[in-house]
Amino acid sequence: MQVLVTGGAGYIGSHTVLSLLENNYDVIVYDNLTNSSLESIKRVEKLTSKKVKFVEGDICDKEKLSQLFKQSDIDAVIHFAALKAVGESAEIPLRYYQNNVHGTVCILEVMQQYQVHNFIFSSSATVYGEENDVPYVETMKLGSPSSPYGASKVMVERILADLALSDNKFRGVSLRYFNPIGAHESGEIGEDPKGIPNNLLPYIAQVAVGKRDKLSVFGEDFPTKDGSCERDYLHVMDLAQGHVAALDWLDRHSEFNGVEAFNLGTGNGVSVFAIVQAFEKAINKAIPFEVSPRRAGDLSAFWANASKANKELNWHANRSLEQMMTDTWRWQSNNPNGFLD
Ligand code: NAD
Ligand code: UFG
Repeated sequence: MQVLVTGGAGYIGSHTVLSLLENNYDVIVYDNLTNSSLESIKRVEKLTSKKVKFVEGDICDKEKLSQLFKQSDIDAVIHFAALKAVGESAEIPLRYYQNNVHGTVCILEVMQQYQVHNFIFSSSATVYGEENDVPYVETMKLGSPSSPYGASKVMVERILADLALSDNKFRGVSLRYFNPIGAHESGEIGEDPKGIPNNLLPYIAQVAVGKRDKLSVFGEDFPTKDGSCERDYLHVMDLAQGHVAALDWLDRHSEFNGVEAFNLGTGNGVSVFAIVQAFEKAINKAIPFEVSPRRAGDLSAFWANASKANKELNWHANRSLEQMMTDTWRWQSNNPNGFLD
């Protein structure tokens, strides 16, 4: 079975490509490298001793995509390619809608043209918005996320639902990721943000390696146990295996058509202070931090009800918080400058 992975050179994409290769899928990566490096794919090839076909291209370039679909026998698409910086999306919303929404429509149109029906979409816990209570469960209505980034994910989920109503061959899976962190246990691939990291773990890791002075903890007056925000952090390799489980689910449900959503998380909320402590314990060193004002748009706490993925996909986020920290540190300390090293 051959899988086209858009955005496969990025953080979650590269770990998923590794899992796919380990499960004997053939993989084509299609990426414009705006937020990644080809080095991630080279390292995946080294780790697996397998070849990955790489095509540099943009998901909005339908001509290039068409050529690729014409030349290759593609059975399924896993669609990671998107811009993902929540704050930036409020500054340049049109670029986010163009890339994340229009780009997805382009790939879906080309799939339809070449009669490829299996589609796995990188959605996010952000689609639940602030309207829903925690834990989030897939039966809840889609919410209204505050950022254009979050809105782009809700829009794509609606587009998939409409497409499924109109095309009875379409077989879509929306995987709603909670907070992926960590790195492959080899320390060879991991998250390599450009510039100042927006997300918690890459920031802590850069403080630990001496690239940044201290962490700002955004708010300690939330209605949580210790006042800092709580999130459902899961290991990126568990998340990667969730994609293999989703392909397997599509394969087992040959009669299925429509779109099905699955939460991918551990089911536990962990606070920012607890993450700092867990990281300090893993590296046996203090992480300097200061408490700063809340960051605009941050919800106080959310985590997954992951029962549906546990039961139907036969998938569990098994790796511990300790392993998430140790693997983040192995990647960061071996590669202080990311893939430039
Ligand atoms: P990433 O930025 O590391 O990977 C995205 C990849 O897509 C990059 O390699 C980038 O170069 C590529 N890309 C972007 N726009 C493209 C385009 N127009 N054409 C071709 N390639 C393009 O991000 P990630 O953390 O690996 O996220 C992957 C997906 O998961 C995204 O859709 C993201 O929104 C979603 N997601 C991520 C998180 C998270 O916390 N990381 C949480 C929920 C959902
Ligand atoms: N945080 C800090 N300091 C930092 C960075 C983050 O205190 O320097 C805090 C945030 O306030 C938040 C927590 O750490 O409470 C986690 O923040 P992240 O930015 O790592 O993650 P978010 O939960 O804000 O967002 C992530 C992804 C989004 C996605 C969302 C839900 O970045 O794309 O999870 O899946 F929508």
